[in-house]
Amino acid sequence: MHEISFVGMGYVGLCTAVCFANKGFKTIVSTKNPEKAKKVKNGIPPFYEPQLEALLKKAIKTRNLKVVVGREEAVLKTDILFITVGTPSQPDGSVNLTLVEQTSKEIGKALKEKESSHLIVVKSTVPPGTTEKLVKANIEKQSGKTCGKHFSLCFNPEFLREGNAIHDTLHPDYIVIGGYDKKSAEALENLYKEFHKEKPPPIIKTNIPTAELIKYANNTFLATKISFINTFANICERIPGADVTKIAEAIGKDHRINPHFLNAGLGWGGSCFPKDLKALIAYSKKLGYSPTLIQAAEKANQDQIKFTIEKVKKELRTLKGKRIAILGLSFKPNTDDMREARSTKIINQLLKEGTKITAYDPVAISNAKKIFKDKISYASSAIECLKNADCAILVTEWEEFKKLKPEDFTQNMRKPILIDGRRIYAPEEFSKKLRYIAIGLGEPIKP
Ligand code: UDX
Repeated sequence: MHEISFVGMGYVGLCTAVCFANKGFKTIVSTKNPEKAKKVKNGIPPFYEPQLEALLKKAIKTRNLKVVVGREEAVLKTDILFITVGTPSQPDGSVNLTLVEQTSKEIGKALKEKESSHLIVVKSTVPPGTTEKLVKANIEKQSGKTCGKHFSLCFNPEFLREGNAIHDTLHPDYIVIGGYDKKSAEALENLYKEFHKEKPPPIIKTNIPTAELIKYANNTFLATKISFINTFANICERIPGADVTKIAEAIGKDHRINPHFLNAGLGWGGSCFPKDLKALIAYSKKLGYSPTLIQAAEKANQDQIKFTIEKVKKELRTLKGKRIAILGLSFKPNTDDMREARSTKIINQLLKEGTKITAYDPVAISNAKKIFKDKISYASSAIECLKNADCAILVTEWEEFKKLKPEDFTQNMRKPILIDGRRIYAPEEFSKKLRYIAIGLGEPIKP
């Protein structure tokens, strides 16, 4: 069995490493942060992800997972290494490749000392050309070795959804292998066959730049699909009786469209869609091309925030001094991640307008405190959050919010006005008892 390592202990690195370790692979995960390493060695994940803690503890107990500080061991003690460092956005939207560059140099240096061959796999999301121009070039320079001769190289994108990362690693829809050469691609294909045993998912083999672009194509398609249904949501709101959820239910039955990622709402956030769309736009512009469709998808996403604030203003007339309850802070349910969360955009805008905010989230409060400090109040339950509010906005569709009844709003709020930003409540039930405004729902038809 192969011995493998993950360089970069962020979300993708740690979740994937833990899955490999639990499949019996001797796995090393490398970080440069000793504090983080200490926590993970004790079985405590640095972020919230369902199933991760139990699997991490198991992997440590069986000694299949080793957490190391620094890169050397990750190169010398394994034969396949995945680069899983972060690639954040720069102010102009392009990708900051500093960590990828630094890591390639470190791997190159360590590889110099190694006799046997090694497969290097880039998993971090990078613009086309990066794996060959930056990673390969740096490894060759630092190691004095030649790609294709002394070491192999692949680009292999990840498609993990936060909140489903373990499931997505164990059961991906497909795997993409961008190989520098046939030998590189086959080596990685064999690893995945070993990992998935009798039921390997479809494996698409291609060259490296195409594989790099597939990652962007996947995320851009999904984000555009959401912006598309949100566009119909906005049209529906202007037509009495129209309902976007029925439109999504209907067109989702067309197998060419499918029902996934057709949930209209406040728009998309998180660590990937916003970053990847910005990166693709910046990258395309460098090539002398303006990707109109992708730019429109991004603009449509920003507009969802503007339209939401307009809804609140329409109901309350003046916002200054009003108390708004925010239900849900994380960028989606089952995660405490607040990166590019819709809640932050809405709260910032409402604060600018002089409102008082009380927010509640089942797991993201401590992350929210780092962002908003004492600029907003934090509630310890949904009911407490609703107390004396002039308007409530349902931002994240956590399961526990789905259980709220109209009475929870009418009995606790000063003015029972609810903006359902994720379409989780039944309009017939809610609009009878309170002022219920929902994304993609026209006003009721007057008899
Ligand atoms: C995404 C991709 O799905 C994953 O393949 C990639 O590797 C990383 O980016 P993630 O960011 O974890 O995963 O979340 P995802 O479930 O895709 O949701 C992204 C955003 O879209 C969330 O803000 C979510 O609320 C929103 N969304 C999703 C909608 O508004 N409507 C939908 O129908 C689906």
